[in-house]
Amino acid sequence: SPPSMDRLREDLRRTREDIARGHPQAVARQHALGKRTARERLDLLLDEGSFVEIEMFRRHRAHGLGMERKRPYTDGVVAGSGTINGRRVFVYAQDFTVFGGSLGEAHAMKIQKVLDLALSTGSPFIGLNDSGGARIQEGVMSLNGYGGIFHRSVQASGVIPQISVVLGPCAGGAAYSTALADFTFMVRDIAQLYLTGPDVVEAVTGERVTHAELGGAHVHASKSGLATFVHNDEESCLAAVRDLVSMLPSNNLSRLPSLPPRGATTDLRPRLAEIVPVDTRKPYDMRLVMAELVDDGDLIELHRDWAANVVCALARIDGEVVGLVGNQPMVLAGVLDVEASQKAARFVRFCDAFSIPLVTLVDVPGFLPGKDQEHAGVIRHGAKLLYAYCEATVPRIQVILRKAYGGAYIVMDSRSIGADLSLAWPTNEVAVMGAEGAVNIIHRKELAATADPVTTRAELVDRYTRELAHPAYTAERGLVDEVIDPVETRAAVARGLAMLRDKRKQAVPRKHGNLPL
Ligand code: COA
Repeated sequence: SPPSMDRLREDLRRTREDIARGHPQAVARQHALGKRTARERLDLLLDEGSFVEIEMFRRHRAHGLGMERKRPYTDGVVAGSGTINGRRVFVYAQDFTVFGGSLGEAHAMKIQKVLDLALSTGSPFIGLNDSGGARIQEGVMSLNGYGGIFHRSVQASGVIPQISVVLGPCAGGAAYSTALADFTFMVRDIAQLYLTGPDVVEAVTGERVTHAELGGAHVHASKSGLATFVHNDEESCLAAVRDLVSMLPSNNLSRLPSLPPRGATTDLRPRLAEIVPVDTRKPYDMRLVMAELVDDGDLIELHRDWAANVVCALARIDGEVVGLVGNQPMVLAGVLDVEASQKAARFVRFCDAFSIPLVTLVDVPGFLPGKDQEHAGVIRHGAKLLYAYCEATVPRIQVILRKAYGGAYIVMDSRSIGADLSLAWPTNEVAVMGAEGAVNIIHRKELAATADPVTTRAELVDRYTRELAHPAYTAERGLVDEVIDPVETRAAVARGLAMLRDKRKQAVPRKHGNLPL
């Protein structure tokens, strides 16, 4: 006679529990490596009890190399959906205790399914990576699996936010999942991200290098620019993923997770008049300016340790989510260079894709001069930032704090490339170049002929400043809408955001532009 319903239910319950518990020795090894299991990580990431798993019973059907005898459930990845502060997200967490989290055909199909669901439901997609890479025994089917994930990820780019979290090895093709994501998190000591590991590097080049030196969190946070955020442990990392998701819209058509207004439109901030020295050669920390503009500490800075001469942050002003881009006079005097251009360009494009208004804080002496930069393609990379702003249709507010010289003035969201509103402090100095440099060029002959070059130069600099670099010069020409008292900046930006809230702008139809890559 067939088994009773109670028996079937009991068997099912036990099997599901066994699968969820995993192999005790493998779990112990994972813990010994200082890592949590896939399910422990999902518990930290998602609202309690919200996880809905799919394809727990999935197993591979690979043949050869003894694979027939080793067919664990889940196939090394836990996938499904859950909520973060009540909002739906789709997730996968690779399980290093099964096949080293390596990606075979079935594993890949599970990830592809959740990515498809994330796209069709318009929900953020979050991948927790901890994997030995392509499952060697499954050969080309593993590679095909990656390709299918990457292809979907690109189709979903600009439609749903994609977040990649690296909590272990992430080698070879797998690394591209992080490069395609909008945001990549890494955890110090356990995350390793590279195309070819130390063994291959040594075999091919003879160079000896450790995992951490090659692709540890520090490397990608400060040198390659691949890691957007780095954390010391998994708890703080996954808590930060939750914070980030709470700042992002679910998809490109959904509303921003804005909060009720805070009365910012009349909020005066006296500190702003103190943070920024009038002398344009004196540095200050642009992040202190940002802190005064945003609602109490509601700010997430991206790429803190990479291209720090430009600061990019998601924040709320008067409850509204905005993207802040600011030159950082404290680092390299705030010049734009190859890396700063790349960092800011990608951020501007992200904000534009997801309808996040842009507020650009300008204090820039120009692009970094020199052979190194020119040969590294500063024109090509600077063009990315230029392109990104020119293309952006979101509300755009420019605030000129002090210097804005030359090409860097144009690029930093000037009116000429589409800013909707431009505000300037009385310390603003918009010109082709600073007074000293300008006088040396346009008065070369006069300076050569004078008996007293010091006095003559001082007079000429003074004249240049009076006639060309005075606070109202740009406003008189309509390129600045309002010269504001620094203490009014938060209020003026909040009023500007309210004014531009319903901005509509449609680009001419085309397949796509040709962004200078
Ligand atoms: N394919 C199949 N199985 C893999 C694998 C892969 N790419 N990577 C790891 N595994 C398996 C290991 O065989 C091992 O299985 P076992 O427990 O049955 O012995 C298990 O995962 C754990 O791996 P192990 O090497 O013991 O862990 P580790 O912490 O010492 O090292 C790595 C982790 C990722 C550094 C190491 O496994 C590695 O170099 N893997 C290959 C990386 C790679 O080049 N992948 C191809 C990229 S496209």
